[in-house]
Amino acid sequence: MSNLLVVDDDSLVRKNLGRILTGQGYYCSFASNSSEARKHLETQPADLAFCDVELPGESGIHLARYIKHHHKDTAIIMLTSRDDATTVDGAIDAAADGYMLKPFNTNEMIISTRNALQKRKLEILNRKYRQHLEEMLVERTTKLKNAVNNIFLVLSRMVEAKDPYTAGHQLRVSELAAAIFKEYGATKDHVEGIRLAGMIHDLGKISVPADILSKPSRLTKLEYDLVRTHSRSGSEILKGFQFPWPIADMILQHHERLDGTGYPQGLTDGDILPEAKVLGVADVLEAMASYRPYRPALGLDKALSEIESHRGKYYDPDVVDALLRVDRQEVAAILQ
Ligand SMILES: [Fe+2]
Repeated sequence: MSNLLVVDDDSLVRKNLGRILTGQGYYCSFASNSSEARKHLETQPADLAFCDVELPGESGIHLARYIKHHHKDTAIIMLTSRDDATTVDGAIDAAADGYMLKPFNTNEMIISTRNALQKRKLEILNRKYRQHLEEMLVERTTKLKNAVNNIFLVLSRMVEAKDPYTAGHQLRVSELAAAIFKEYGATKDHVEGIRLAGMIHDLGKISVPADILSKPSRLTKLEYDLVRTHSRSGSEILKGFQFPWPIADMILQHHERLDGTGYPQGLTDGDILPEAKVLGVADVLEAMASYRPYRPALGLDKALSEIESHRGKYYDPDVVDALLRVDRQEVAAILQ
């Protein structure tokens, strides 16, 4: 049974409407002014409220606006004896679901009541359906993101299985790059892109002979040249796959330096992607701060001051500044 609320200061109107509506099987409550109606709705929600336009105190139009805002599931029919443009405009503005002129025609009143309740029912169904769709979309997007993340993790582990000395390097670079890029002012979406690129930035090492990658001493010039091919091979592997971010180019350029001394293309400042500049700094920081078989770990402070000393020469000043703004404890925790 639908709950209806009649708000009118005229007791005769309340009585007549109550008689018609209860006769149709509806449950009716009554209020003679806005404040009574507001109080009533707090404790007993209504499916439909009839609001007289000319109420003592707060007008019916104001009350209708209040109800639409605070009780979204309550339909509204305005009641008035004034058939003028201002009253109609007010009712439309308050998003009323119906408009009845006094004195009422019983049949017209019954039809308007049914229509308003039907419209309300459809609106509630529509809202629930949209909510359900939105929830489904969030759930599927989360699942898809997790799947992409897992695929990148698998790729990351494949590279590190071949290069055990740098186990965990890509994941640490990924987290460092994300923290720096966030501080740099990148959007959440761009940070997500660099986080994924970081996880596989050394993907091309899969094409470098394992004995070179795991050599416990310094590399010869020839061996080093072979290792340097990894940024191009990594980007070649990803070529043709569509990502929402330029992941292949981030990987291709992560060893480029501002002054053109990097590889593989010797790009300079303006031609290097901001993401590649960030990845490059995160990569160098992680490598310097960590232990390698042919040298001890430099430690975080020395690694940071080494990077700072090449600010503007190798590394983008804004990227270095962003790195220095990242909480030191956070950086240390990532590097552990
Ligand atoms: Fe690399």
